[in-house]
Amino acid sequence: MNMPPTPAAPDAFARGLAGVVAGRTAVCSLEGDLRYRGYSIEPLARAGDFEEVAYLLLHGELPTRAERDAFAARVTSAARSLDPAVIDCLHRLAAARPDAAPMDALRTGVSLLGQIERDVLPGRREALLAQAERLLGQVPALLAAWCDLASGRPVAPWPTGSIAAALLERLTGRTPPADHAAIFGTTLVLYAEHEFNASTFTARTIVSTGSDMHSGITGAIGALKGPLHGGANEQVLEVLAAIGSAERAEAWLEEQFAAKRVVMGFGHRVYKDGDVRAKLLGAMCRALTRGTAAEPLEGLAARVESLMLARKGLRPNLDWPAARVYHALGLPVSVFTPIFVVARMSGWTAHVIEQIGDNRLIRPLSLYCGPAPRDYVPLASRVGQAEACPTRTGFSLSPIRP
Ligand SMILES: CC(C)(COP(=O)(O)OP(=O)(O)OC[C@H]1O[C@@H](n2cnc3c(N)ncnc32)[C@H](O)[C@@H]1OP(=O)(O)O)[C@@H](O)C(=O)NCCC(=O)NCCS
Repeated sequence: MNMPPTPAAPDAFARGLAGVVAGRTAVCSLEGDLRYRGYSIEPLARAGDFEEVAYLLLHGELPTRAERDAFAARVTSAARSLDPAVIDCLHRLAAARPDAAPMDALRTGVSLLGQIERDVLPGRREALLAQAERLLGQVPALLAAWCDLASGRPVAPWPTGSIAAALLERLTGRTPPADHAAIFGTTLVLYAEHEFNASTFTARTIVSTGSDMHSGITGAIGALKGPLHGGANEQVLEVLAAIGSAERAEAWLEEQFAAKRVVMGFGHRVYKDGDVRAKLLGAMCRALTRGTAAEPLEGLAARVESLMLARKGLRPNLDWPAARVYHALGLPVSVFTPIFVVARMSGWTAHVIEQIGDNRLIRPLSLYCGPAPRDYVPLASRVGQAEACPTRTGFSLSPIRP
């Protein structure tokens, strides 16, 4: 009889897998500096060219001008050719639930694309790269299409220009000025990739079973949605709105600390001395908003930052400035996390291809903490079970800690 290998009995475990090295990757490193395939994030973010970064993550090298433009043309062509059956499904869903979250529409949309495109299991590298490039164009187009349909408008055509400029135009309804398109591109670059975060690890786990890319990405979108991960950028504006003014910041934060609530946009599992992306984008956000109606929010944000550091030793993560940039660009809060999806498609698909290329099923162990061995009692003889084993009530998945 085959027996599973017996590991050394675990007497400890890493809660939330904190500090656990769960695999190898050549896509991104966080040690010392954040680097995409060896390139430091700062010059990539300042160039703000999402196409060049997506190419780098997927193909492993920075593109030449010709390679970049051919890649951009393929992505734009995918954005312009969403399957009508997918649009039709989204149309029906929008008619039934126009108030549904765009994140849910994206998760459904990618799942629909997997069904329509008859995703291959697991596919050759060239086929996977082509699939990844199509998704890079299809996902921003899905987001824009959903926003049109949920507002009762027909789906507008995908504009010319970079993904950043085109998506910003589709989401705001106007051609963006160059500085807006540039900082929006920078946010896409900063959100593009981040090693073994929860959503990327979800995608890798799914495809490690031999499943397909669209299934992995659908799961990743579900993981990103949570407020402790990508969903935090939508909550940041709620935090700022709830505080209201710099004078109220201290009292508001003390209330959160007393109630053991986390403050969205602060803290990070890996960066304990600050998130380089937040530093970079924070400075750009202050420059963008100087002299505009969004400037007062920056004063409030700065006050919250200094209080969080003084009281908790916590610094902002990328979501803190990204939410303020998106607000300053006139974007509705409900598309903040979906924009993160558009950007992270590049990192997710690169990881999916890497995982498939050197796969071993991801299957960790658990430390059992349930009842001691006991005998089965036939249903007819069972009495008093409810009292013997009360169900857990009041358990909350909210980030509010008990
Ligand atoms: C990102 C996050 C989930 C990391 O969690 P983590 O690695 O498990 O953090 P830790 O448990 O090590 O945090 C250490 C302490 O700081 C506290 N802390 C961490 N982030 C906090 C925050 N944003 N606000 C208030 N307190 C926070 C924790 O409650 C913990 O306090 P304790 O020791 O009294 O229990 C967490 O910082 C958080 O929830 N942040 C807000 C959500 C967010 O912005 N998410 C986007 C991440 S990019």
